[in-house]
Amino acid sequence: MPDTFGSGATALVSIGSLVTNDPFHGTGPLGLITDAALVVEDGRITWVGSSADCGPADHVIDLDGRVVLPGFVDSHAHPVFAGDRAGEFAARMAGEQYAAGGIRTTVAATRAATDEDLRARLARLTSEFHASGITTFEAKSGYGLTVHDEQRSLRLAREVTDETTYLGAHVVPQEFADDPEAYVSLVTGAMLDACAPHARWIDVFCDRGAFGADQARTILAAGIERGLLPRIHANQLQHGDGIRVAVEMGAASADHCTFASDEDLALLADSGTVATLLPGAEFSTRSPYPDARRFIAAGVTVALATDCNPGSSYTTSMPFCIAVAVRDMHMTPDQAVWSATAGGARALRREDVGVVAVGARADLLSLNAPSHTHLAYRPGVDLVDRVWQAPLTPKVAP
Ligand code: NIG
Ligand code: FE
Repeated sequence: MPDTFGSGATALVSIGSLVTNDPFHGTGPLGLITDAALVVEDGRITWVGSSADCGPADHVIDLDGRVVLPGFVDSHAHPVFAGDRAGEFAARMAGEQYAAGGIRTTVAATRAATDEDLRARLARLTSEFHASGITTFEAKSGYGLTVHDEQRSLRLAREVTDETTYLGAHVVPQEFADDPEAYVSLVTGAMLDACAPHARWIDVFCDRGAFGADQARTILAAGIERGLLPRIHANQLQHGDGIRVAVEMGAASADHCTFASDEDLALLADSGTVATLLPGAEFSTRSPYPDARRFIAAGVTVALATDCNPGSSYTTSMPFCIAVAVRDMHMTPDQAVWSATAGGARALRREDVGVVAVGARADLLSLNAPSHTHLAYRPGVDLVDRVWQAPLTPKVAP
């Protein structure tokens, strides 16, 4: 579990380098402050500045020159499932192609699992997220695909995060294979009724072997009507209309974007839609990596996320994603760190995370390293020193 701050004011001092993501406060795009300090009270940051100016506090934590960053914000994860698909992964590494249909294997295992089993698996992945420095993560349903199993997935997800996403439209389940439109009706009808109270977001996998653009529009519109906010899996397996649909529907994020045309990038750049890139998915499916430089040069806001799921990206490590994004998506270390913190926050439309600024949540991470660049420079090495997380917002009783 991450550390929490005690009562009263706690000062973090002797921070060698502090990533604030606040360019008005520090230098460069990451708003770096060297020899920094910050003060936390009641789960919020109350002061940020240089160590020499830091006033007295009830508790003092000496970081001894380490780097401190906002906790990572993972805006795309599928951590509610049972079973694994290591065999599929091994087959891909021997030359097989990834296909959306593999989702059904996890659906069968998830439906057969007890609540206790799913809860225990989710707890394990949650502690892996925290150990990798992630302090905010999104959790999708999408491996239940019945009214009961989608609702239970979201109930369980809500126990560990506020950022829950209804993904009844992950794939058409086997029992609806002959009548996909009937499944779309279920997703936009009884299943939505059961799931909407437990979700903040609605998502659809708009791609080959999953849902078409018109189905995606219908599904997202039904969710919006019920007060959910849209996001989408777009252009993972081939070029299609997913990014266009995302922008049209005002989605907070279009995720994957493995195949994106210049026109797609122009649409994204002119919109409030973030492109969430998922390096773990290209890594684990041996697909071509999108070139993040193209996105950034076109003016697109880019987030990085784990896509943690048993089929296409079974990782909970944001440092791994940062290292791959730098090496294979051609991001600079600064860009990758920004995308894994502030970018993730934009993709979740959050202003209280992903930054170190007065008023932001005290979700923080220190590294056994002198600079954030080490996250990519030292791939595969666990550099996380400490992770602090403010308590989750107390739930209002219905
Ligand atoms: O984001 N693309 C759709 N959903 C997941 C993969 C799910 C699976 O293969 O189980 C993804 O990559
Ligand atoms: Fe996904």
